[in-house]
Amino acid sequence: MLQEKIKNIKSLQELQELYTATFGKNGTMTQKLKSMATLSNEERASINAENTELRQLFKDKQTDLENAALNAKLAGEYIDVTLDSEPENRGTLHPLTQSYKEVVDIFESLGYTLMTGPEIEDDWHNFTALNMPAYHPARDMQDTFFLPNGNVMRTQTSAVQIRAMEKLGAPIKMFSVGQCYRRELDATHSAMFGQIEGLHIDTVDKGINLSDLLATMRTFASKFFEKDDVELRIRPSYFPFTEPSIEIDMKFGDKWMELLCGGMVHPNVLKNCNIDPNKYQGFAFGFGWARLVMVKYGLNDIRAFTDSDVRWLKNSGF
Ligand code: DAH
Repeated sequence: MLQEKIKNIKSLQELQELYTATFGKNGTMTQKLKSMATLSNEERASINAENTELRQLFKDKQTDLENAALNAKLAGEYIDVTLDSEPENRGTLHPLTQSYKEVVDIFESLGYTLMTGPEIEDDWHNFTALNMPAYHPARDMQDTFFLPNGNVMRTQTSAVQIRAMEKLGAPIKMFSVGQCYRRELDATHSAMFGQIEGLHIDTVDKGINLSDLLATMRTFASKFFEKDDVELRIRPSYFPFTEPSIEIDMKFGDKWMELLCGGMVHPNVLKNCNIDPNKYQGFAFGFGWARLVMVKYGLNDIRAFTDSDVRWLKNSGF
């Protein structure tokens, strides 16, 4: 029976073939319809009924097969959203940029104002005003890049504290983060390196002293290294622009790491900025910017910061 055949068909192609064999030019149904003129009324009625029934059966079967094909396709294209995907290769901010933001946030929260100065500096701001006049032996400690006109590539952000005091006078509470240049290159020195400089000067009656510097550094270290119990120690040191001068170390595990330098601003420095040292006093401090990051992440080669090696950037845990 044709009806049975239609029902058992499994593919659209077979259905198409059977349809042609039934309703095509020489199809069985076409033949029957053609011969109707000679037939009786009942026979005609039966052929018409069969015609209608068969067309409907073909139509239904076609819909069934098309739906089945669509379902099969959808099942094949199913996306398993619970599967792990390839990790996305995202960039991150350079560790120096990240630490810059952290440092700025911390010092601003302590009431310091961020200030900047030029990287090409004159002798006055880089040396002389910092109590390092020409031929001062301390100049020798900084292997300086001189420009033909006598200016220098800034060797220290301490130059910015001079500019700040010249511009704003005292009292003043400022800090600066910027690049400095010296002719040095090894694992812990880079010809271009960042420094962070801070200065807090107020009237003598406020009595700013070394303990204030230490307390400020303890707060800074606690915030920057996210540590509640910060252990610091101080060592005597020498800088022409501070008296006394100290270096501050911080304890990590059972190791002491050098953190920063600082001291009470030398009266000559205040005088050079037209500030009366009998009326004002305060402290200054200086950090190695990369050094902070190296200590935080346990890194030992400062050159990596400027090598632009993506593997290092990815794997150092920043
Ligand atoms: N400028 C100094 C250096 O490069 C670091 C420094 C030391 C800055 C003591 C200061 C300070 O402000 O008080 O070696």
